Amino acid sequence: MHRGWLEGYVALVTGGGTGIGRAVVDRFVAEGAKVCAMVRSAADGTDLIRDHGDAVSVIEGDVRSAGDNAAAVAATLDRFGRLDTLVANAGIWDFFLSLEATHADVLAATFDEIMAVNVKGSLLSAKAAVPALRESHGSIIMTVSNAGFHAGGGGPVYVASKHAQVGLIRQLAYELTPDVRVNGVAPGATATGLRGAAAAGQAERSLEDVEGLEDAVSRTLPLGFVAQPQDHAGLYVVLASRENARCTTGDIFRSDGGWEVRAPGRRPGRRTA
Ligand SMILES: NC(=O)c1ccc[n+]([C@@H]2O[C@H](COP(=O)([O-])OP(=O)(O)OC[C@H]3O[C@@H](n4cnc5c(N)ncnc54)[C@H](O)[C@@H]3O)[C@@H](O)[C@H]2O)c1
Repeated sequence: MHRGWLEGYVALVTGGGTGIGRAVVDRFVAEGAKVCAMVRSAADGTDLIRDHGDAVSVIEGDVRSAGDNAAAVAATLDRFGRLDTLVANAGIWDFFLSLEATHADVLAATFDEIMAVNVKGSLLSAKAAVPALRESHGSIIMTVSNAGFHAGGGGPVYVASKHAQVGLIRQLAYELTPDVRVNGVAPGATATGLRGAAAAGQAERSLEDVEGLEDAVSRTLPLGFVAQPQDHAGLYVVLASRENARCTTGDIFRSDGGWEVRAPGRRPGRRTA
């Protein structure tokens, strides 16, 4: 019988009710873990319980709140007795909000909102989880983005927020060694309902509705397709596993279709199938 890579592990996944976070929850459970998902809306939690029963628990919360993060960690410990992995995944996008085309007040408020979710949220989740992770010699995995390394995966606000997350990973890896490994996964364009900032009037916009995304990705990325959330999930499993990633900290696994080697405006190579 296949022994899962995460048998006996307990994870907390922020934004675990949808998209990439949901795919991580599904895969972690399949690998034998118990998972607590922090969700924004109760409906996301209902689906998780329906699909995974006792292997998951759900808590509603906002990653911008230190209290909500502390409550999520407490609920995880209460239900499952330990914490091995924090997946700091909750995030919002900026739909390429442009510096020049955006009023300064909107830009300022959008910056505050996106940085609060993507950067402060990751910081406060880590703050709440670290005592339990030190005890378990566990790890933190943040969902970054190709925008953590390159221009063009959003506007200046989102790209700055994801670059900031890279700094957070490096600094926390340094501070928490040797007890807690801190790493990231950096997806590229992925078919999810990723939302934007209320301050920019984008809270109800969804990445799925961005016209021409599939086309742009297939023209510019070497691998040439928009990822599905589950395409990234195995990398989180590897990073969470003490057995398989014991020597890895302060690192970020790219899962972006080859953004690093893309040629602007075209995809090199030739399709053979
Ligand atoms: N979809 C992409 O193309 C893509 C590419 C690179 C990186 N990412 C990153 O992946 C991560 C997950 O996004 P996704 O694409 O799966 O979209 P998604 O919208 O399905 O997932 C984001 C989750 O974060 C939650 N969330 C948002 N604000 C929150 C808050 N204040 N408190 C708690 N939870 C909050 C949402 O409810 C949602 O469940 C994000 O960090 C995003 O930046 C996405």
